[in-house]
Amino acid sequence: MNNLNKEVLDIEISGIRRFYNMISDNKDIISLTIGQPDFPTPSHIKEAAKIALDNNLTNYSHNAGFIDLREAISNWMIEKYDLSYDPYHEILVSTGSSQALDITFRSILNPGDEVILPAPIYPGYEPLIKMCKAKSILVDTRSTNFKLTPKQLDEHINSKTKAVVIPYPSNPTGAVLSHNETYELASYLSNKDVYVIADELYSELIFAGKHTSIASFKGMKNKTIVINGLSKSHSMTGWRIGVALAPKELMSNMIKVHQYNVTCASSISQRAAFAAYTNGFDDAKPMSKAYYNRVRKAFDKFQKNGIDVNMPGGTFYIFPEIKKPNMTSLELAVDLVEKAGVALIPGSAFSHFGEGYLRLSCACSEKVLDEGLARIESYLTRYL
Ligand SMILES: Cc1ncc(COP(=O)(O)O)c(C=O)c1O
Repeated sequence: MNNLNKEVLDIEISGIRRFYNMISDNKDIISLTIGQPDFPTPSHIKEAAKIALDNNLTNYSHNAGFIDLREAISNWMIEKYDLSYDPYHEILVSTGSSQALDITFRSILNPGDEVILPAPIYPGYEPLIKMCKAKSILVDTRSTNFKLTPKQLDEHINSKTKAVVIPYPSNPTGAVLSHNETYELASYLSNKDVYVIADELYSELIFAGKHTSIASFKGMKNKTIVINGLSKSHSMTGWRIGVALAPKELMSNMIKVHQYNVTCASSISQRAAFAAYTNGFDDAKPMSKAYYNRVRKAFDKFQKNGIDVNMPGGTFYIFPEIKKPNMTSLELAVDLVEKAGVALIPGSAFSHFGEGYLRLSCACSEKVLDEGLARIESYLTRYL
């Protein structure tokens, strides 16, 4: 095995998946683990895919995606987030936002470059950065309600910094930056010689007001790669549709990596995505409302039991600080499974700054959530 790629040997399956795989076969366990929306994909989107199949739209598309889809994405981004991107040169349809992230890192990073990540952090970035022989620099955001600030950035940015990831709304914490907080980061970053990777996958799942993209501020578009997609907003995780928006020159390089990587996103999924981006403007609203109610219920339950927790501003995750003496968050998560039959993701899956927390996903039915919360409460009462 030593003759394999060293970086690949060093990375591991994400802590989320490892924990999920450990418990997924046991039907008696209530799983509040993965970020898999429990709603079906909206019917008009499924219909569009069926029509595409019947019309034999089963061929390759342009590497960047069908042009009418890119035009629809361009309109969507203008109307929703005040982002203006040329569908011919600045938009790419990817195989889930995961692949958009991969080609972004591979297009900009050289060995030894540093990438700043606000932690606790979604585990999908660090391995990609490592495979580019670059280095992740984690910034501890626990004292600022998991929101990255210009001051924190200033303490970590240096001549090796190639990029900063701005991952809000946040998985795992549910933290959302206000317009003003985003503006402050943009003001700081607009003068710095770094790329900004704005992972905005949860932008439609904001509980109050609307999402502000960091790319929409003055001086930001030319250095920002916006990542978005349909997995969470339209409950389309299995369709694998993501989006990257970037300035023309950078995008022309990203397209090269994308071409050799996957050629193009699935044609049938792209036709479904066209329906989502043209007729699915409000599809996320009822889901977002349901997620709010569920997250609120979890928040109230934790507060009632004296657990430190922030009320998320969006997503469907909540990230309570639950500690048991002499136990790591992984051991605590295993103990919860064994003694209470409920599974949450240990905070350490989101870097060592997540130690002492657990992530609960409310992307499950009300019934499952209620039972899960009841089991957590009885565990807290008996064992903490
Ligand atoms: C913050 C964030 N970015 C990216 C992804 C990847 O999603 P997908 O590849 O399904 O678009 C996820 C998935 O959970 C995520 O939480």
